[in-house]
Amino acid sequence: MNKIEMEYSFARYLLSKQSVDDRALNKDVFNSLKSHLPQKPLRIIEVGAGIGTMVKRLVNWGVVHHAEYVLVDEMPENIAHAQAWIPQWAQEAGLSVERSAEHHIRIFDTTRDVNIQLVQADVFDFIQNNKTPADLLIAHAFLDLLPMPESLTKLLTLTNGLAWLTLNFDGVTTLEPTIDTALDAHIERLYHKTMDERCTGGSSKSGRQLFTHIRQAGAEILAAGASDWLVYGMNGKYPQDEAYFLHFILHFFEESLKGNAELDEDVFADWLKKRRTQIERGELVYVAHQMDFLVKKNS
Ligand SMILES: C[S@@+](CC[C@H](N)C(=O)[O-])C[C@H]1O[C@@H](n2cnc3c(N)ncnc32)[C@H](O)[C@@H]1O
Repeated sequence: MNKIEMEYSFARYLLSKQSVDDRALNKDVFNSLKSHLPQKPLRIIEVGAGIGTMVKRLVNWGVVHHAEYVLVDEMPENIAHAQAWIPQWAQEAGLSVERSAEHHIRIFDTTRDVNIQLVQADVFDFIQNNKTPADLLIAHAFLDLLPMPESLTKLLTLTNGLAWLTLNFDGVTTLEPTIDTALDAHIERLYHKTMDERCTGGSSKSGRQLFTHIRQAGAEILAAGASDWLVYGMNGKYPQDEAYFLHFILHFFEESLKGNAELDEDVFADWLKKRRTQIERGELVYVAHQMDFLVKKNS
């Protein structure tokens, strides 16, 4: 898979991210989520939900049995992908599938019944129109893209109780083996700076900042913990589609840093080439430090 023949598909990136996220999710926070979930049919709203990998995970991991699950994402391509992909994995998992209306998918068997609604919208427009708050709000790999603290206050209006806020980036990206210590550190610093300067908001230290933002938004932290992405090869190979995941991470580096006045173009191109070769050899190790939270809204 070299750069010439590589097609960068965001949907495939989200698919390739599943096994990385499965390992990363903080299991103490996850166990706390399971013990706090009310024992009744749930209403769940997931914001910035992409193609719906979290609903698949929660059904497969036995967390969601009977639920109305609203999945909100602003990208029409993600909603279109979810529309085709959700029935596919559900059937493969032995679930029956019914489409009650456009953008409504029911997946069920004798013990499970989940009604999924796909909503293509900017989350802040969705908040204005949503009539029924959820038992659980989920924001997975999303909050570090938003302006804070105001976004959190608005998002928490979507829940009557719990919020599971996962994979919030927190200031450390590590790529091994080293290419050049000073250059690696310089590129990491510039990459994080692009997260802090995005016009749509976001922060490279979102994880640690959430401790303050959550308190200020009038919510209580029930559990918190690290959820680092850690990707490494074994015997020269990465599991699942994780080589693609790594290529996409380098694509993010390339897209955010191209034309950066603080980075020589040729030096950066050479660095990217060396990093891509490390992926091809199964040598590249990637760590991104992130944090998960389970939060309860104070009534
Ligand atoms: C990093 S992706 C994570 C997707 C998904 N949670 C996952 O982990 O597979 C962030 C997602 O947020 C969506 N997004 C960004 N800003 C948004 C907004 N203002 N309203 C709704 N969705 C948004 C993007 O379209 C994208 O799918």
